[in-house]
Amino acid sequence: MFFPVIFLLTCAAEAGLSLNISASCPSMCQCAPEETIHCNRTGLRALPGEIATSTISLNLSNNHLRVLSTNTFRNLTFLHSLWLDGNNLTFLSPGTFHANSRLTYLLDLSHCNIFEIHPLLFSHLPSLERLDLASNNMRYVPQAFRNLSSLTKLSLEGNHIEAIGRDSLKDLESLYELNLRKNRIWIIQNGAFTKLLRLGMLNLGHNFIADLRLLNLRNLYLNNNQISSISDSAFLYLNKLHFLHLSKNNLSSLPSRLLAELPKLKYVFLSHNPWQCDCRMLRFWRWTSTHSRAIQGLHCAFLSPHNTTASMMPYMRGPRMVVFS
Ligand SMILES: *[C@@H]1O[C@H](CO)[C@@H](O)[C@H](O)[C@H]1NC(C)=O
Ligand SMILES: *[C@@H]1O[C@H](CO)[C@@H](O)[C@H](O)[C@H]1NC(C)=O
Ligand SMILES: *[C@@H]1O[C@H](CO)[C@@H](O)[C@H](O)[C@H]1NC(C)=O
Ligand SMILES: *[C@@H]1O[C@H](CO)[C@@H](O)[C@H](O)[C@H]1NC(C)=O
Ligand SMILES: *[C@@H]1O[C@H](CO)[C@@H](O)[C@H](O)[C@H]1NC(C)=O
Ligand SMILES: *[C@@H]1O[C@H](CO)[C@@H](O)[C@H](O)[C@H]1NC(C)=O
Ligand SMILES: *[C@@H]1O[C@H](CO)[C@@H](O)[C@H](O)[C@H]1NC(C)=O
Ligand SMILES: *[C@@H]1O[C@H](CO)[C@@H](O)[C@H](O)[C@H]1NC(C)=O
Repeated sequence: MFFPVIFLLTCAAEAGLSLNISASCPSMCQCAPEETIHCNRTGLRALPGEIATSTISLNLSNNHLRVLSTNTFRNLTFLHSLWLDGNNLTFLSPGTFHANSRLTYLLDLSHCNIFEIHPLLFSHLPSLERLDLASNNMRYVPQAFRNLSSLTKLSLEGNHIEAIGRDSLKDLESLYELNLRKNRIWIIQNGAFTKLLRLGMLNLGHNFIADLRLLNLRNLYLNNNQISSISDSAFLYLNKLHFLHLSKNNLSSLPSRLLAELPKLKYVFLSHNPWQCDCRMLRFWRWTSTHSRAIQGLHCAFLSPHNTTASMMPYMRGPRMVVFS
């Protein structure tokens, strides 16, 4: 059990041996412990020259960096994590990260005013596990994800993306968590997520989605969209789905067998929709209530003549209720 820890420490010490680390700390940065360098919020306009090549973790967030060239990180071949969030990186040369194939833990490029990403920008980062591109200005999903075969977590939250194409994400074979919240997505091409066999969490909240073609998930966020109808086969193959978020859409009814083939489903969130509490919804509610799913936010009383059986207040049911905000 202790083996891996000792190994890591030894490696880090060896990596630093050949250098005079105390001499390599740029004056405006903090370099303790040696392999971790904090140059965050120090007014930098370019990368300081003295950064030790043994650096493993580098925080450059909230500076005034503008252009990253092929040379910027060329000597930092040991980097595992790199924070560049909060810079104004309107131009990123395709070779910027070519020497950093050990980037593993995280590359943070959020809040960087990025409009476009070159298709080869990430092509030498096969070990990268987390990539944060949130809060930029991208209008489409970049083609740059081809070689990110280890990526487990990707955020594109808060961009201006309008469509998810069939092949946009197809190479992300390890992806577990995909955050597409707060974009302008209204088109999702058929099969856009079907190659993401590991995907467990997809956040599509706060978009303009009106139509659905989906996949294999535990947690599906479709809240805050404009969905006005769902076909009874929409979630057909979601065998692992536990949580379904449909709050704040434009739904007035749901087909009674919508949730029929979802063996793992536990919670369904339905608040803030213009529900019509008619016979159709009564059938949906009856079917659902006999299969022990917790429903939240379906505020129908189902008064006579339909309420022939037990409780007609779905949102009052069961101890497993979760309140969704
Ligand atoms: C390392 O740098 C410090 C501070 O600049 C200096 O005092 C020391 O002599 C250097 N050590 C070596 C081995 O170069
Ligand atoms: C990097 O710097 C920012 C401040 O600019 C800070 O909020 C963040 O926690 C730092 N990240 C790490 C991992 O130290
Ligand atoms: C840089 O980030 C670290 C870690 O979050 C934080 O402790 C430090 O205060 C930050 N430095 C500045 C100048 O913001
Ligand atoms: C990279 O290292 C080489 C050799 O040590 C040095 O000449 C060069 O200036 C360094 N480049 C940068 C961008 O720091
Ligand atoms: C970011 O850079 C662009 C040009 O590269 C410039 O027009 C813009 O004003 C900059 N934004 C900030 C907040 O510095
Ligand atoms: C990136 O992936 C493509 C095909 O998916 C491959 O041909 C190329 O060699 C890869 N590039 C690197 C640097 O691994
Ligand atoms: C909501 O759905 C109704 C039909 O059920 C439609 O007439 C209306 O335009 C929809 N509203 C929006 C904002 O999509
Ligand atoms: C319908 O439900 C309401 C409230 O639970 C109850 O007061 C009423 O008697 C029920 N009507 C019939 C026909 O069961």
